[in-house]
Amino acid sequence: MHEETKEITDIILELAQRARQETSMEPEPELTKSVQWPVQLTIGPGLEGAIACESKIGYVNGTKGWLVYRGYDIFDLCAHCTFEEVTYLLLNGSLPDARELASFKKKLIRYRFLNKTLRLLVGFPIEEMNAMGALRLGINMMRQEFTNIDKEEARPATIDAIGSDEDSIAMETAPKGDIRATYEFKQSETDKKNKGRPKQLDDGHGMEACCHLISGVSTLTAAIAKIHQKHMPIEPDRNLGHAANLLYMMTGKKPTPLEERIMDISLILHADHGMNASTFASMVVASTLSDVYFSVGAGIGALNGPLHGGANEQVLHTLMEIGDPGRVKSWVDQTIADKGKIMGFGHRVYKAYDPRARILGTLAKLLVKENKKVKPLFDIAEELEKEVVSKLGAQKQIFPNVDFYSGITYSCLGIDPEMFTAIFAVSRVSGWTSRVLEYLENNRIFRPRALYTGEFNRKIVPINQRS
Ligand code: CMC
Repeated sequence: MHEETKEITDIILELAQRARQETSMEPEPELTKSVQWPVQLTIGPGLEGAIACESKIGYVNGTKGWLVYRGYDIFDLCAHCTFEEVTYLLLNGSLPDARELASFKKKLIRYRFLNKTLRLLVGFPIEEMNAMGALRLGINMMRQEFTNIDKEEARPATIDAIGSDEDSIAMETAPKGDIRATYEFKQSETDKKNKGRPKQLDDGHGMEACCHLISGVSTLTAAIAKIHQKHMPIEPDRNLGHAANLLYMMTGKKPTPLEERIMDISLILHADHGMNASTFASMVVASTLSDVYFSVGAGIGALNGPLHGGANEQVLHTLMEIGDPGRVKSWVDQTIADKGKIMGFGHRVYKAYDPRARILGTLAKLLVKENKKVKPLFDIAEELEKEVVSKLGAQKQIFPNVDFYSGITYSCLGIDPEMFTAIFAVSRVSGWTSRVLEYLENNRIFRPRALYTGEFNRKIVPINQRS
């Protein structure tokens, strides 16, 4: 282990110790045991208090500020594991041994290569699209390229024509800036891989399709970032781990061990979080027996919103708007007086300090030491945290959430703000797919009711008599 990354392990273990001193770790009995269906519940607006299903994947204790994946405390997972190990854990229920991990990593590396998908993607106006919209489109392309869900004969003829000429299409613009651009779309990994493509990928269901998406969302996100910068996508590097390869494909630079470790931890922290809006959205789609590509597409749609994954980008805009630590107090007073929401604070479940924010805030502090451009924003963030917690912490149980420090962290790692939410998706796709696989073992279509509060017995007035 590098000295720098060993320091991070020590920091996280120290944070864990402090968190454990502050809060006890007993699980809430009513939320941690099987029930006899049907259950009687008190449900609030936004389905607050509703139980959607049973799960062995993860647990959030919002009162204590405690997050668990498959029985392991998030602090321990961040201190001792990689994103690949944690993803394996979420999908399979136990941490991999060395052989299992090697084979899982090999699979993820194989699925990094999406050349034909990327070639199709660059035919769309990606540079004008929101990154999450482009990501959703890219997932549709993956589904088209790698599965047989839509039968061959149902495909439009134009796609066949482009597909047959794949190796020889000249690009309209010369690539700029990146040494190993994939602009040639040469006969490469994708074609070799397709010949021996696992059968399980074909119907778009199951573990294989999940691994395909976990890897592919990373490649797509980096490609979208590059296209937004008016560069061509960078080919994945099979010698790098998931986090390092993501940073490499996004920035064109191999990350330092410190950068790689912090990105890896951020991916672990965002991988799963109970029945959040995007996880629920992807499970609702899966429960109709639609395929996992559509499920992940639904998750991406839900994650895009500023009340969910989109908050991290908004946090950075807020910090820029405030502009100076000296302006924090008046800005907070005004926002509270206007009943505005302060991005990166508050949570439906956490009524205590979000453990993910504890970890990311500390790691962001480590990164900004070297980054003169982002340091002023971090100083404002620290001041904002103090001010909001002192005004709303005790009164409304509002504390920083995971999104508060993630934007600063990503800025230090060279990622553009417009890509922050997509990076969240790179990680959360592990949680979405794990929970979809688990739910499908005992599937029942999600179908809540709405209370009808409209009128009855209205008579249709002829159109020329309606006002
Ligand atoms: N700033 C100021 N006041 C807040 C905030 C905030 N960020 N969050 C909640 N409140 C207040 C809210 O005004 C309300 O006050 P009152 O009872 O006087 O009307 C009370 O707290 C309850 O708020 P709510 O909106 O009913 O809570 P909710 O559970 O429906 O919403 C939330 C949770 C995360 C959407 C909300 O806290 C929020 O909008 N936060 C800002 C956006 C954000 O940071 N989102 C990221 C969430 S964490 C990552 C993720 O899961 O994606």
